Order: sequence, then C-alpha cells, then structure tokens
Amino acid sequence: MSPGKLTVSAPANIAFVKYWGVADPAEAIPSNPSISMTLETCRSRTTVAVRSRREGDRISTMGSDGALVPASGALRRGIERHLGRLRETLGEDACFEVATVNSFPAAAGLASSASGFAALALGVSRALGREPSTSELSELARLSGSGSAARSVLGGYVEWPDPGRSGPGYPAAQIALPEHWPLSDVIAVVERGPKEVSSRQGHLLASTSPHFARRQELLPGRLVAVRLAVAEADLGRLGPVLEEEAVELHLIALSSRPPIFYWKPATLAVLEAVRNMRGEGTAAWATMDAGANVHVLCSPTAEGRVARALAATEGVLEVLCDRVGSGPRDEEVHLF
Ligand code: DP6
Repeated sequence: MSPGKLTVSAPANIAFVKYWGVADPAEAIPSNPSISMTLETCRSRTTVAVRSRREGDRISTMGSDGALVPASGALRRGIERHLGRLRETLGEDACFEVATVNSFPAAAGLASSASGFAALALGVSRALGREPSTSELSELARLSGSGSAARSVLGGYVEWPDPGRSGPGYPAAQIALPEHWPLSDVIAVVERGPKEVSSRQGHLLASTSPHFARRQELLPGRLVAVRLAVAEADLGRLGPVLEEEAVELHLIALSSRPPIFYWKPATLAVLEAVRNMRGEGTAAWATMDAGANVHVLCSPTAEGRVARALAATEGVLEVLCDRVGSGPRDEEVHLF
C-alpha cells in the first residue's frame, strides 16, 4: 500500500576523486571511479504523493516568498525526465505530485542535482510502497543522468567503483561510516547563480582535452591514496591528493575544446587563503566541483577559524559550514 504523501531529504556530496568524463551519457556511466564525502546540512527536501495517470505530474518548488510555485526551466525538465526513468525502471505508470526545495544555492557547483535526484528516487520509490536497498536506490538515483546522485544515497564516505567491481545496476558503496572520521567542509560561496556550462556538457567535452588520457593513467594511484587516507582518517594524506584532483578537473575543463571556465577571481583568492592558512599551521585543504565555489576540508576544531578566514576573503559572498553526514532520511514536515 502506498502512503498518501511523504517527505524525505537527501544530502549533497563533495567528491574527493572526481567523476569527470562520461563513458555512456544515456546511462550516466562515468569514465572513472570516484570517491566522495556525503554532507549533512546541504540537503534537498522532497515531498511526493501519487496521482492518477489522468492527473499527470505536478512539480513545484519554493518561490522567493517561501510559497510553492510551479517548477520551470531546467529544474522542471530534469525532474520530468527522472520521473519518466523511474516509472520505466520500477514498472509503474502512476503520476506524482512533487515539491522540492534545497537548503543551499542551487546549480552552483554545490551538487544540487545529486541531492535533488537522490531525494526524488527515494521519495518516489517510497510513495509507490517500495523499500529499495541502498544499491537499488543508487541505481535509481544514477538514472537521473546526474551520476553523482548515485553517491548521495549513502552516508559517510562513498566510492562509486568501476562497473566491473560494483555488480548489477552499477551502485555506489559506503567505504566508511561518518563516525569513522568527523570531517568539516567549510564552503566558500563565490557565485550564487547557476553555472554557465553544465556538468553534463563538461563530461561530454572532457575527452577532447589533451590531458584527459594522462588523467586516466594517474587515477588508479590517487584512488589507492584516497582510500588509504579515509581508512586512516588522515587529512595530511588526503589533502594534497584532494587539491591535485580539483585542479586537474579544472585543467581538463580549461583545455577542453571548446574550453570551459568555471573559476571566478574569488576562487583563486580562496585557494590562496587556504594556502596561507596552511602556512600558519592550520590543516585545511581545498576542492572544487564543476563550479566556482570552494569546499575547504578541515577538522571540526579548525572549522571556526577556517570559516572566519574565508569570510574575510575578497569576493566571498557567504560561508556555509557543513560536515560529513549520515545520508538520506525521512522528514516530518511536508512541503504541501
Ligand atoms: C564535478 O553529472 O553528477 O561534481 O548533475 O551537476 O550533479 P551534476 O553532475 P554529475 O557530475 C558531477 C561532476 C563533479 C565531480 C563529482 O561529483 O564526482
């Protein structure tokens, strides 16, 4: 029996080893394995109710005045496409009322699609009375086309391995619990609007970069180093690989044909501030996804100091303090 309506939330994640480049765009199969940390407070909250086929889907989001408004543009198209894939995969022809809201700036390199599509996959499955395993849920989230959503269905530290190692449905898997390593992510927001070039376009162009092939050779060593750093909860080991990965993603974007420029001047100012903090003895390491904003990983005891230094950096609009989190959850407050 399906419930009347329900609300779930799913978190964003920050990649330590990046998914960049796509082997099969239709199925969102990446060119390489990736490893991420699931966040706690950057979440998408989604309410879902089943409607009849005749009623069709109804999709809304929160307007600037806090009231629900019909979703439009890329958000609407993305959700419609994902609902279609979910119906097809789950063998259902029901329609849905969906309302979704983010706790953080959407489409600015803060993985809003990962959290949004993970929440949608979970909400729709539950609304249909299903209880998918985390592996099934990871596959359902990936079918949105936002591959990183496959990692947002799990808490803690997550690896999305090679298809050969992961089994049917190509799910991501947890490699460490959140309690294993309490790590903070201090996010310097330097750009609030949507980025000009989507990750999807970036993935498609990645292999046109002369550096893409070399990246594939370097990745196995980095994956080993990051797995070890997570296993040993060792930020000193993780940090240099984290920064190398972020810079390489952007090196490939910048050298794709045509080139993609995600960074803003403030991105470089934040990277300099992070190097200065390290010079003064604070263990803080930076990474960026496909956008201008910078995630700074540090210990919870350094979080306040890092947040103050980032807030004082020119061009930083806002600082969000997040940390490793426990994954999707049920929510009691419905959006409609
Ligand atoms: C740079 O195709 O999952 O964040 O749909 O924008 O979430 P979105 O992108 P997706 O690619 C993610 C690319 C990345 C690196 C990563 O998260 O692994």
